[in-house]
Formats: sequence, structure tokens, C-alpha cells
Amino acid sequence: MDSVIAVIGTGYVGLTTGACFSRLGHTVVCADVDESKIARLRGGEIPIHEPGLEEIVRDGVQAGRLTFTTDVNEAVANAQFAYLCVPTPQGADGSADLTYLVAAAEQIAPYLPSEAVVVNKSTVPVGSTRTVEQALGRSDLFVVSNPEFLREGSAVHDFLNPDRIVIGSDDQGAAIRVASLYLNVPAPVMVTDPASAETIKYASNAFLAMKLSYVNAIAALCEAVGADADDVMLGMGYDSRIGNKFLRPGPGWGGSCFPKDTKALHFLSAQAGYSFDLLDAVLEINDAQFERVTAKIASVAGGSLEGARIAVWGLTFKANTDDRRDSPAIEIVRRLVAGGAVVRAYDPTVKGDLPEVDGVQVADDAYAACEGATVLAVLTEWDEFKWVDLDKVAATMADRRIVDARNLLDRGALLRRDFVHEGIGR
Ligand code: UDX
Repeated sequence: MDSVIAVIGTGYVGLTTGACFSRLGHTVVCADVDESKIARLRGGEIPIHEPGLEEIVRDGVQAGRLTFTTDVNEAVANAQFAYLCVPTPQGADGSADLTYLVAAAEQIAPYLPSEAVVVNKSTVPVGSTRTVEQALGRSDLFVVSNPEFLREGSAVHDFLNPDRIVIGSDDQGAAIRVASLYLNVPAPVMVTDPASAETIKYASNAFLAMKLSYVNAIAALCEAVGADADDVMLGMGYDSRIGNKFLRPGPGWGGSCFPKDTKALHFLSAQAGYSFDLLDAVLEINDAQFERVTAKIASVAGGSLEGARIAVWGLTFKANTDDRRDSPAIEIVRRLVAGGAVVRAYDPTVKGDLPEVDGVQVADDAYAACEGATVLAVLTEWDEFKWVDLDKVAATMADRRIVDARNLLDRGALLRRDFVHEGIGR
């Protein structure tokens, strides 16, 4: 059943949602106030690094099922569904800022056809369905929560192959209409009330962040007791109650979601009268992890960062994305430079300079980053780093010292080449 869907906002969630709904056979109009972004999208240029997205957008446009406009009113005029996919940035107090969400709802309200369903897909605090209802101010519209769980770097796959589809609505009919949009998506559909749906999103992200803080805490313990964190994670992951995913120790977690959502959950629970102390520890452990990795690099450099030449591999918050928002790698590079180190960094998605941190040289390839370096720090788990010629790296560096903050490289191969090697928890 082909529906007419307007998608307001063309960031990671909006563009992926619009493109994938057109792939599912719906007619989609993506609207954004950013004229240059819409012009690029109309020109077939995808403003984000997402595997498979360019093809789906092209196919949707060629089939006449996907269009882009800056005219939000025109986008919703014939829509049966209006998906709100606008940013909900972090406010100064840690809360989620709903300015864009309310503005978008107020803007489209006069133009939506009667009986249309307005769907919250942005990550929004509990109670935001009510907030949108008030902003719309029309009793002939429905508001439904339909949180998104896609990961950057695998957004298209995750949207079309989700673990579950969550729909929060007080109106069964509206919930069923939203569920029908996912008819060809092989996943369980869960219908609940709006507050529970909104809570599922935050609880899921904060749980994953907690899992990773726990993993990094166990890795710290492994270093203290001489255990191998990778083996410990393997042993833990066999237990299906724990699960073998999201058990990779690293330099800490980051990105545009986990930090913002964990802080927003902490804030909204305090507002609601529950002091979520566990999340304090989750956030503190993560911040401490940035410091642990920085201190590890200083110690491998001989005890001080002052004047130390550090090669860095990876600047994005994780592999397979060009996103550096709240990137652990950037945070650690910032601390290395603050400690007096001379940093030369390479990342497959970064060319020219690094605006986030002054004084960092950006190299054209992994080997160039290593020239004359005392220590090489691996901060993002790009696959290409696994296939480098370690003999060439050894010959290029001033000293053979590595801090592999992703446990990515072959430790045996490094030790056979007389590298000093430090991993995370091993
Ligand atoms: C996350 C959630 O996974 C996704 O469901 C939600 O919709 C948005 O937020 P994303 O921000 O793309 O997605 O990042 P994710 O892949 O979850 O990684 C988050 C951070 O955890 C990254 O810094 C990553 O490097 C780190 N990580 C992840 C680890 O350190 N170890 C792991 O095993 C997994």
C-alpha cells in the first residue's frame, strides 16, 4: 500500500527515513530549510557518508517516488504522514532542546490535511508527543512516536532490517496506519503508549553506553590484574543474557547520540524525581577513559607528552562514517596537544586541516602520519589500518611504539617486529 509521506529534516535520520520509505514503495517528499543541502540533494549529491544511501536516493528520484524541497508547507499539503526528523540538540543543562521540533510542528499545522498522522522520529524526551500535539493545536490530527535506532555507517541497513519497530500512540487506528508503512520490513512491531515508546529510545541508548563503560572498566581491571580483555569479552559474550555485541573495549564512546541521549536521560529522570546515579558513573567512566588513553600514550612516549611526536590513526567517532561529533579520537587528540605533543593524524575521511584542534597536521595516508613519530595511536577502527605494511610503518617511525586503543592490529605481528605495544585491557 503506497502512502504519501512528508519528511521534515534531512539529517542522518530524515534522509535515511525518506530514502528508505521510497524504497519501500511510498511517495516521499523530503523538506529542509537548508537551501544548499536541498540543492545538493536535488543534484544527486548526498551530504553524509552512508553506505548504500546514494543508490537508494537515486532510485527513488528516478522512480518519481522521492523529491526534495525547501517548501515545508508544499511538502505536507498532500501528506497522509508527516515525519518530524529535526535536530534535538543538547541544551546547556543536558536536557534535549525542542526548539526545532516545536517550530516544525507549528509551521506545518495549517497545511496538513485532516486526519494526517504527525510522527516523532527525532530522539525526544518523554512527553514530547504532547508537546507536538499542543504545537499543532488541531484535534483532527494524530501524533505518534516512532523512534529510530539506526547507527551511523549502517543507517540504510539498520532502517530496512531493524531489530524492532516501536510505535507509541494513544490512538490504535493511527498506530496501525504507521505500522502499515513498514509492511515489507521483516521485524517485530511493538505498539505501546507514547511515553513508553519515547522512554525505549533513551533507555536503549543509555543502556548501550552503560554496557561500553562497563566493558572499558573491565578492561582497566584486566590491565591491573594481567588478564586479556579481548578474551574476557569473548568469554562473557557466550552468555546469551549478555550478548556478544558491543563488547569491544576502546578509547571511550562518542558520536551524536550516546553522549547527548545519556545526559538527556539523566536530566529528564532528575526532573521526574528519580536520581539516576548509575548514569553518573557511566558518564564519568567514559570521560576517564579519554584520560586513561591519553596517559597511556604519554607513558609509552617515555612519560611525558612535551614535544613528543605522536602519529594518530583515526579521527571519526567510529569507522565507516565521516562524523566527528563528540568523537573520542578528537577528544584524545585535543588532550595530546594540550600536553605539548606534536600530532600528525590520518583519517580516510579527513583532508586538509582539522578545525576542532589547532596545530594538528593532517596526513594524506597512514604511513605519512607515522614519519618520525615516537608513538602511533590507533583511535578509530577503520578496516584499512588492519592491512597496512607493518615493516613500512616500523621503518617510517622514529621509535616502534604503539597504543592500539581499538585492539585492532595484530599484536603478535607487532611484537615480532619489536614494537612496544599497549592495547586496551591487554
Ligand atoms: C547509536 C546507537 O547504536 C543507535 O541505535 C542509535 O540510533 C544512535 O546511536 P551511533 O551513534 O551510530 O548509534 O554509534 P554506535 O555504533 O552505537 O557507536 C557508539 C560509540 O560506541 C562509538 O564511539 C563506537 O566506537 C563505540 N563502540 C561501539 C565501542 O567502543 N565498542 C563497541 O563494541 C561498539
